Amino acid sequence: MPEQEPASAYAFFDLKPAFNDMLDEVLVGLRSERKFVAPKFFYDVRGSKLFEAITELPEYYLTRTEMQLFDRHLNEVRDLVGVGGCLVEYGSGSSLKIRKLLESLRPDAYLPVDISKDHLESTASALHRDYPWLHVYPTCADFTGPFELPPVVADHDKIGFFPGSSIGNFEPAAASRFLSNVAHTLGAGGHLLVGVDRKKDVGVLEAAYNDSAGITAEFNLNLLQHLNDLLPVRFELDRFRHRAFYNEELGCIQMFLESLTEQTIELGGEPIVLQPGEFIHTENSYKYDVEQFVDIAAAGGFAVHASWTDDREYFSLFLLVVEPN
Ligand code: AVI
Repeated sequence: MPEQEPASAYAFFDLKPAFNDMLDEVLVGLRSERKFVAPKFFYDVRGSKLFEAITELPEYYLTRTEMQLFDRHLNEVRDLVGVGGCLVEYGSGSSLKIRKLLESLRPDAYLPVDISKDHLESTASALHRDYPWLHVYPTCADFTGPFELPPVVADHDKIGFFPGSSIGNFEPAAASRFLSNVAHTLGAGGHLLVGVDRKKDVGVLEAAYNDSAGITAEFNLNLLQHLNDLLPVRFELDRFRHRAFYNEELGCIQMFLESLTEQTIELGGEPIVLQPGEFIHTENSYKYDVEQFVDIAAAGGFAVHASWTDDREYFSLFLLVVEPN
C-alpha cells in the first residue's frame, strides 16, 4: 500500500535576510569598541542541535521547568484561548514543546518562524508528517525585526508562542518593540504564550550557562564556525574560549567569546584586530521579576491574561492578550 498523503497543506516561505545585510550587520558589531555579534548567529543546523542538547543538561533547568508548567497548565491555556486558529511560533525550538502544544490546542495551522532554514524545514516537515490534520507553513525570517506573516494565514485567528525565555535574549526595550510587532501580527484580542526565566540565586544561573559537559561552550564557539560558513571570514576556533557571567546590575547572564591571543581576522577584506583577553559579546539572557516583565509586556501593547509559576519560582509562563488600541 502506498503511504497516504496528508490532506493538509505544507508550504515553505523564505524571507531570509540577504547576504550583504548579514555581512554589514556582523561588521558593525566587530568594528565597535566593545565587539559583539547578535545571538541569532548561533542558530545554524549545528547550533540548533547544540541548543537542543543544552535543554537536556542537568544544569539547564529552564526547559524542564517550562515543560512541567505545560504539563500542569496547558488545559487551562486551551480553555482560555480555545481550539483552532493558527499557532505562530517565534523560533522553531524544542519539538517536544511544540508537540505538547499542538496536541493540546489543536490549531488548524502551524506557522513556525526561524532564521535557520534547514533546521526549520526538517522540523516542520516532520510535524506535517506526524500531524496529517495540520496545515504547516514554515517561514524563514529574522523575527528580531518586523516582518509580515504570509497571506495564507490572513483569515485565521492567531495565537503566538514564544517559549524558552527567548524573550530574555532581547534588551528590555527591544523586547517591548518585539512584542509590539507580535501584537501587530496577532491583532487585537490575539494571545501570546511566552516563557520567562526568573531572577534567582547567581550560582544556579551561572551553572546553567557553564555546564560541566561543555555543551554551552561548544554552542558559543559554533557561532564563529557559522560565521566562517556564511561570510568571507576565517575564525580559528581554538583561539577563543567561552565565558559566561551573571551581571547583577543589568539582571542578565552575559556570554562572551574571549580571544586567547592577539589576532587579526579579515572580514570581507577588512582587518579586525583582537587583543589577548578581549571579549566578543554574543548574548544577554535577562532574568525578570514578574513586575518587570509585566511592564515590558505593557509597553509592547499586551496585558496579562493569566500566568503560572513553578514551586521554586524559577520560571513563569504568561498568557498575554493584545490590548485594544
Ligand atoms: C534561547 N535562549 C533562551 C537561551 C538562553 O538561555 O538564553 C540560549 C542559550 N544560551 C546559552 N544557553 C542557552
